[in-house]
Amino acid sequence: MNILIIGSGGREHALAWKISQSPLVDTVWSAPGSPGMNEIGPCFDLKANDIEGLCQLVSQLEPDLIVVGPEQPLADGLADRIRGMGFDVFGPSAAAARIEASKGFSKDLMAKYGVPTAAYQRVTNFEAASKFLDTLEAPYVLKADGLAAGKGVVIAKTRQDADIAAKSMLAGQFGDASAELVIEEFMTGEEASVFVLTDGTNAVLLPAAQDHKRAYEGDKGPNTGGMGAYAPAPVMTDELTQQILETIIEPTLAGMRAEGCPFQGVLYVGLMMTDEGPKVVEYNCRFGDPECQVLMMGLEGDIVPIILASSTGGYSATDFARLAPGGGFQPAATVVMATKGYPDDYPKGSTLNGVTTANRLEGVKVFHAGTDIDADGGLMAVGGRVLNVTAKGQTLDQAFQRAYSGVNAINWPEGFYRRDIGWRVRTDFEMPADVETDEPGEA
Ligand code: AMP
Ligand code: GLY
Repeated sequence: MNILIIGSGGREHALAWKISQSPLVDTVWSAPGSPGMNEIGPCFDLKANDIEGLCQLVSQLEPDLIVVGPEQPLADGLADRIRGMGFDVFGPSAAAARIEASKGFSKDLMAKYGVPTAAYQRVTNFEAASKFLDTLEAPYVLKADGLAAGKGVVIAKTRQDADIAAKSMLAGQFGDASAELVIEEFMTGEEASVFVLTDGTNAVLLPAAQDHKRAYEGDKGPNTGGMGAYAPAPVMTDELTQQILETIIEPTLAGMRAEGCPFQGVLYVGLMMTDEGPKVVEYNCRFGDPECQVLMMGLEGDIVPIILASSTGGYSATDFARLAPGGGFQPAATVVMATKGYPDDYPKGSTLNGVTTANRLEGVKVFHAGTDIDADGGLMAVGGRVLNVTAKGQTLDQAFQRAYSGVNAINWPEGFYRRDIGWRVRTDFEMPADVETDEPGEA
């Protein structure tokens, strides 16, 4: 079969890489793809949010399956359009993508169907915001309702900061996305993300992954899309997994069905392990990036049958579970290399050396997140997050040793990375003396 992947990041490169290993798959096409994805199969120069262009490409290529990586085209209805043309697609409808694209929708869903989460209120003016903030204690959590490229959450330490944030968000700090806010209670605990492959009814859970959102070591600095990740996250025991399935995943999927928008694809559930048990921080309607990279690296069996079954539906619970990738999961880690300046402005066009050398190391694979080919045919950086140096090992320690050997093989003076990815779980790790650590639980 032939599969078309939509997107160009490290997440999509990892998906293309894993999917191409399936004995069921002949060709993996990508749009727009990347130099890394171009090594796997042909790329088509169309932006991931060019809905019309992508629909035309689908009718030309007639893929057996289309896998949509990022959230924006899903929120814009790409999966609905492609399904309407009679093709199978891995990704939710626009109505189901509201689980990510509207925080208000997702909080109302949780409230209605009894999914544990932080107490909240939806507000559209400062008076209402202020009134609800009066009922909370510091720190305060304010979220833009709409998609804001992972930047729409503000954690304010004082009431004064919360007021300032509420005013500026409502005044359009995140454009239309923050015309409405969700204000919620602050939760404390360890965070982890679970990824659920689902046809809307049946669900298969992948191992839990942990991301590092802050730009700098010691979990300092501004929030980013993610500077590194690992899986499995030891915080997730079998008992917790079962509890999460029963108290969170099942009611969420049932709620979506009852609302008339069953969720098909991969549901990303961000969780906080609070003293009162696991609670939902947020949902996303797609794989995490860079969490996807470690999941694809660690999964030993074939991922294509379950992706296909999620896309088509119609399986019994037993048949669906049987299609889950067999062979277990090897511990995996990824370190993001980003252009200096990210997540603010950064230059483009610097030369990347050593990627081929890194790829030759045992257990190491470098996924491209923001690269292009320069005039001389060399590899250059064109994004904020540029490379995801990913590795697997017998243990998480080994996976990290290998990933950092890959990082060391790469020569890119204009880039930076965090040395402390996985600090909570690496038994051989000591925080470098020059790194100040932050209080846990801060975003
Ligand atoms: P989100 O984009 O909703 O995942 O939020 C980004 C980050 O903000 C999360 O990963 C958490 O670290 C933090 N966060 C969001 N909501 C809360 C909350 N209610 N309590 C504590 N931290 C939160
Ligand atoms: N790594 C966080 C995200 O993909 O939203």
